[in-house]
Amino acid sequence: MNDHTPTSAERAAKLEGMGCKRKRVEDVRFVQGKGNYVDDLKLPGMLYGDFTRSPHAHARVKSIDTSKAAALPGVVAVLTAETLKTVNLAWMPTLAGDVQMVLADGKVLYQNQEVAFVIAEDRYVAADAADLVEVEYEGLPVNVDPLKAMADGAPMIREDLKDKTDGAHGKRKHHNHVFSWAAGDKAATDAAFAKADVTIRELIVYPRCHPCPLETCQCVASFDKIKGELTLWGTFQAPHVIRTVGSLISKIPEHKIHVIAPDIGGGFGNKVGAYSGYICSIVASIVTGRPVKWVEDRIENLSTTAFARDFHMDMEIAATKDGKVTAMRCYTIADHGAFDACANATKWPAGLFSIISGSYDFPVAHVLVDGVYTNKAPGGVAYRCSFRVTEAAYAIERGMDILAQKLGMDPAELRVKNLIRREQFPYTSAFGWQYDSGDYHTAMRKAMESVDYKKLRQEQKAKREAFKRGETREVMGIGVAFFTEIVGAGPSRACDILGIAMFDSAEIRIHPTGTGICRLGTKSQGQGHETTYAQIIATELGLPADNIMVEEGNTDTAPYGLGTYGSRSTPVSGAATAMACRKIKAKAQMIAAYMLEVHDDDLEWDVDRFRVKGAPERAKTMTELAWAAYHEVPPGMEPGLEAINYYDPPNFTFPFGAYICVLDIDVDTGVSKVRRFYALDDCGTRINPMIIEGQIHGGLTEAFAIAMGQEIHYDDDGNVTTASFMDYFLPTAVETPHWETDWTTTPSPHHPIGAKGVGESPNVGGVPCFSNAVNDAFAFLGSTHIQMPHDHWRVWTAADKLGLHD
Ligand code: CDP
Repeated sequence: MNDHTPTSAERAAKLEGMGCKRKRVEDVRFVQGKGNYVDDLKLPGMLYGDFTRSPHAHARVKSIDTSKAAALPGVVAVLTAETLKTVNLAWMPTLAGDVQMVLADGKVLYQNQEVAFVIAEDRYVAADAADLVEVEYEGLPVNVDPLKAMADGAPMIREDLKDKTDGAHGKRKHHNHVFSWAAGDKAATDAAFAKADVTIRELIVYPRCHPCPLETCQCVASFDKIKGELTLWGTFQAPHVIRTVGSLISKIPEHKIHVIAPDIGGGFGNKVGAYSGYICSIVASIVTGRPVKWVEDRIENLSTTAFARDFHMDMEIAATKDGKVTAMRCYTIADHGAFDACANATKWPAGLFSIISGSYDFPVAHVLVDGVYTNKAPGGVAYRCSFRVTEAAYAIERGMDILAQKLGMDPAELRVKNLIRREQFPYTSAFGWQYDSGDYHTAMRKAMESVDYKKLRQEQKAKREAFKRGETREVMGIGVAFFTEIVGAGPSRACDILGIAMFDSAEIRIHPTGTGICRLGTKSQGQGHETTYAQIIATELGLPADNIMVEEGNTDTAPYGLGTYGSRSTPVSGAATAMACRKIKAKAQMIAAYMLEVHDDDLEWDVDRFRVKGAPERAKTMTELAWAAYHEVPPGMEPGLEAINYYDPPNFTFPFGAYICVLDIDVDTGVSKVRRFYALDDCGTRINPMIIEGQIHGGLTEAFAIAMGQEIHYDDDGNVTTASFMDYFLPTAVETPHWETDWTTTPSPHHPIGAKGVGESPNVGGVPCFSNAVNDAFAFLGSTHIQMPHDHWRVWTAADKLGLHD
């Protein structure tokens, strides 16, 4: 007979709580093809919608004739802006406080803009009928260059705003100006530059790219005329925000709108905002009295739904001659396309871009951002990024490399010299952000030792000499990047979206048998929330993670939350989960004290139970206490064991990382081969190391794609030349490098479990690391900065400009 009493450690291991590489519970359905996505939904009598889109980037719409489309058998209705005007929905508000056409009203402002919405019995009939809508256009001058948007005589993109003199943060400077936004101390920064030993200045462009999730944006709208209720299934990263905004613009009372986000196949910021497809499907369902489905195709997704980046950054750094940074400033033009549909917190029209001083101890700094309108699709979303942090990290990390080159210093050495020191935390940056915790030097040292940095530089030196002697046509690049992230929006005092404060929530209900359900205001799109939130509860409450069901994405059942993007789920809802657990535990402690006939203070917690101090055999497990909560509560106590927490974080969390990339480039073909990519991440307390590793692999793959090939490119006439995967680089396993991951752990002091976000870190740190590697490869030949993306053709062209093909 086995009479072994499990130790505390053995009992803890069985719970599969925090720190455990618990297998993803959602994969049971995903790997069997049993996920339930929007397009899997089939409702009786369902109709299908499709758009007629503009072939022009800028044109007046002279007339729209829908008669041929409407006459096609199977077509039920055709909507235009004129139809939408009857219900006051021809335009909709954007998340950034601008307005946007739902269907073209008078003119079109970018290629593939929605012009008419055809509703038919069949998806294919809808597509055929969309082609039959006849639109007469009169072409207008096009501008797709943000640097020319505010020039004299630049075509006016937004005629509806011609009398609007104020932008979000002051006067508009030009008819194509969206906003100006500044941060930092301009006078002190200019003064530091005036007396600097060394300065660098470079136009650093982060090209327009696109999150391109595997599943495109889609919805099913079903309006019940009898009850006056709307049910909307969709690919929503923020279901509650969709419900509130939907109610405000449709005037359907919020309690009569049911928003459901089922399984989502990737979001990356692309599925935060509201699209014409949602509005048209809702109106179509109201008009026809039948459910209406809208599913984007790939070209529509890439060319019309929210893009990312498109920041043109004039970056400057000042330093002493021995390499101590003294100031930085950056003037940026942000291309917002035709409408400002940026997904930013309201007070931050350029997002959290002022994290641009990065991981370095800058005494003073200043940024100024001008947003402009062009004839491109709207968006500007936080693609795996916390509101423009990725652009900021790219600018500072390229800037530091350019400074190192000018000083003749090693880029890693320059970083070590300027990194914020451990004893400086909590550290207030020149922009006023308070970094919660960090141990940057330990991370940097570990990264450099892990790749044997010194040896790599020696190898590079030898290769450069061989190249100069003509013995090889390959150049070797070593990319170093150290990034600091700002995630977990947000403290409600700093962050809101259209007036809705950015907190988040968790509601936990423990059932009598010691199992339970946790509902949250966030929404996983592949991040494994069903697995990891249960791990937090397992550790906090001492119940096995397998006994906890996690549910998100149904606004009728989940507490109000702001959704999942910008790695905010762990910093905000993860904290809410822990805090809700602590309320439950406090009640359980009172029940235990009553059952054990001791005072609450005489009890101590041991993994999964309360035990009497000094008499550990007298104990009540959480499972026993769950049963008791429904049968044996102390007199006067309410039965039941549940709690809800709305968590308004006191600060953001600041994860960080040190990345190193080694690659070789053939200067005659422009082809680069990534030899090594090492990524050390510090996201504070690690909930599930396996999921973290998966997040980092995914984010690095996206970073590789962005740095080495992705661009949403427009020709001078405003035609999108990269609207399909034939032209837009999406790496497969074949192109993707091998990733080496590592970590340090510096908990957040203000988060209940010390965790910081991690999902977006690899994208934020990965892009500058790749770009620095490519640039480093050519630095010894006098090259300062080669713009991204670093695809073969552009790298070959850069080599050509350096005279390497003469
Ligand atoms: O908001 P989002 O889920 O995109 O990002 P996140 O908060 O960084 O979390 C991504 C995934 O990594 C989730 O499943 C988290 O639970 C997990 N994670 C973790 O295990 N430990 C951390 N310290 C941070 C995130």
